Amino acid sequence: MPRTTRAAKTKSFLQVANWKMNKTIREAKQFIEQFVNEKVVTKQQIWFAVPFTDISPMKQLVGDVYQIGAQNMHEASSGAYTGEIAAEMLLEAGASFVILGHSERRKYFHETDSSINKKVLRAIEAGLKPIVCIGESFEEREEERTEEVLKNQLLEGLKDVSVNSISSCIIAYEPIWAIGTGKTATSDMVVKAHEAIRSIFEGLYEKKIAEEMTILYGGSVSPASAEELSKSPGVNGFLIGTASLDPATFAKIVTLSENTTVE
Ligand code: 13P
Repeated sequence: MPRTTRAAKTKSFLQVANWKMNKTIREAKQFIEQFVNEKVVTKQQIWFAVPFTDISPMKQLVGDVYQIGAQNMHEASSGAYTGEIAAEMLLEAGASFVILGHSERRKYFHETDSSINKKVLRAIEAGLKPIVCIGESFEEREEERTEEVLKNQLLEGLKDVSVNSISSCIIAYEPIWAIGTGKTATSDMVVKAHEAIRSIFEGLYEKKIAEEMTILYGGSVSPASAEELSKSPGVNGFLIGTASLDPATFAKIVTLSENTTVE
């Protein structure tokens, strides 16, 4: 059992929409128009991780109201890497953050903790906030190896990230079996995993850093699960796929997560 290191919910809840490979520029603009029409009143932060082509037009459209980010990047700052994109390009287009190590990147594009680590270090150096995704498979959970898997992913994925830089990183706990399946992890599972992650951070860095780390939950978050999960101790926000594609559904999740900012 991990030692209990819980974060006080003193900062605003963070909602990150991960659009994956969805929405053309036209569709992205339409989404924002409809989302604004939902008239959500919130103290939460709302970020959009969008396809590369949407970054610049989205930034021009939303300014500083929402943060815009990418879903991947290359670890080099430039060079002969046909089809890849560098941190500087994302920054100049208007991105302020980048999702790294998503399980779909690990599965379909063979990313490893070691290659993710290079990207994390590059993103930090360039001034992009990394959202580092970790999470266990169904088999690993069944074998009661969840904490071991999370620990290895953090140890390798965050290797050489200094104590001064770690505060610019965000962790997303996304159990693979919950992504796009409609199977949300229970509040109990999420709380335990987040506590385990904070304990690992306490071992790697220090207690204050562990407590202040922003840790998101992702995996089939929906209006049905948002309220309970957002109230779960140690959950600082969501990383949302499918349910973030529809403006009304996403707005509903934001509304259901309101009043969870302070514990
Ligand atoms: P779903 O919300 O569709 O399960 O996707 C979660 C996810 O992968 C967010 O990064």
